[in-house]
Amino acid sequence: MNKAISGFSKLSKEEKVEWIANQYFSTPTEAVLLLKNYWNSDEKIQKLHDEFIENTITNFYIPLGVAPNFLINGKYSTIPMAIEESSVVAAASKAAKFWSTRGGFKATVINTEKIGQVHFIYKGDISKLNLFFAQIKNKLFLETESITVNMQKRGGGILDIILNDKTNLLPNYFQLHATFETIDSMGANFINSCLEQFAKTLKDEAHDYELFTETEKDIEVIMSILSNYVPNCVVRAEVSCTVAELEEKHIPNGEEFAKKFIQAVQIAEVEPFRAVTHNKGIMNGVDAVVLATGNDFRAVEAGIHAYAARNGKYSSLSHSKIENGIFTFWLEIPLALGTVGGLTSLHPLVKLSLEMLENPSAKELMQFVAVAGLAQNFGALRSLTTTGIQEGHMKMHLNNIINQYEATESERLLIQKHFKKNTVSHSAVVTFIEEIRK
Ligand code: MEV
Repeated sequence: MNKAISGFSKLSKEEKVEWIANQYFSTPTEAVLLLKNYWNSDEKIQKLHDEFIENTITNFYIPLGVAPNFLINGKYSTIPMAIEESSVVAAASKAAKFWSTRGGFKATVINTEKIGQVHFIYKGDISKLNLFFAQIKNKLFLETESITVNMQKRGGGILDIILNDKTNLLPNYFQLHATFETIDSMGANFINSCLEQFAKTLKDEAHDYELFTETEKDIEVIMSILSNYVPNCVVRAEVSCTVAELEEKHIPNGEEFAKKFIQAVQIAEVEPFRAVTHNKGIMNGVDAVVLATGNDFRAVEAGIHAYAARNGKYSSLSHSKIENGIFTFWLEIPLALGTVGGLTSLHPLVKLSLEMLENPSAKELMQFVAVAGLAQNFGALRSLTTTGIQEGHMKMHLNNIINQYEATESERLLIQKHFKKNTVSHSAVVTFIEEIRK
């Protein structure tokens, strides 16, 4: 059957659902029913979600959980986390509780500079281009004033624009490299609008610049776009306590634990295969908060991993040390986040998540996100270097299997009791369920 279609986007949602169901499903009625089951009964909410993207056919749920007891810079918070992976929220809550009695988390925003670039081709005398840029630089600021006026009122705007000669990388390749302060917005629209205006001014001014030859006047703008690599928009999160204070049920000897923990971090610092998984654990926390607060997790992911490789080799984002009997564990990550604009005022659950965080500024949100990442990393490393990761994972996994087999309450209790003493594996649980159902 020909599964191509023209004018799909023009169909109504109902028609789209029907078409998809008939084309791809052996039981189209069931597919339609399932898709419609996930529509929100509140038409206003549904319409909102329909309009976030094109060709919406239904909603895709992932759980929104919360991790309470996060003591950050002396203040308690409950952190919202949107994530599907079992045990992530549990691990965050556990780490939060652990550190709440050991001084809590300290978080600091180091800087907040965003970046955007106009990439262009110029064929000619480079000294003339430098002269030209010096002459039009002020005009680049002036001609973006209508875009920057509101941002300036909030204390932000364009910080600087420089001309970069990139001809050592590609023939005739130059760029306008601009830096921005976007206060509480992530700033993508603001930055891109400024850049497109820079590009226009650049071309127009080059056209009229008397010192340029005809070829030199013909600057070709390739593209104008923000960079998601923001190495000067960085937040640091840290925990510390004496090695003795690390002791608890699974940690009989604080010093031994701290040393093993530090070795685990050092392995991630020197070994990219481990570093990727180590950082993935950090991203479990980071992404969950970024998503719950309506921020662009793809941008955050891309930027953070580039930062992890900034010294030419992919490495750990977190670090750890013992000094004078004090164990310290910290991370630094770049985060371009917003608490105004974008989804933040549109998605009802994003608004709710932000209110739960007491309507943070972008800087405060950077701190929450970094702390969630550090907590997650601490939880993972603590498990990995003590009991192993599977114990906690399998507990949650057990729950998922129980749900999958629609166990009754009494079956659930029997299963949980049995697997307190026995090792959880999918087949062991299924066999046990079958046995009790005989
Ligand atoms: C699983 O989602 C994350 C971990 O693999 C992280 C790590 O290994 O540090 C547990």
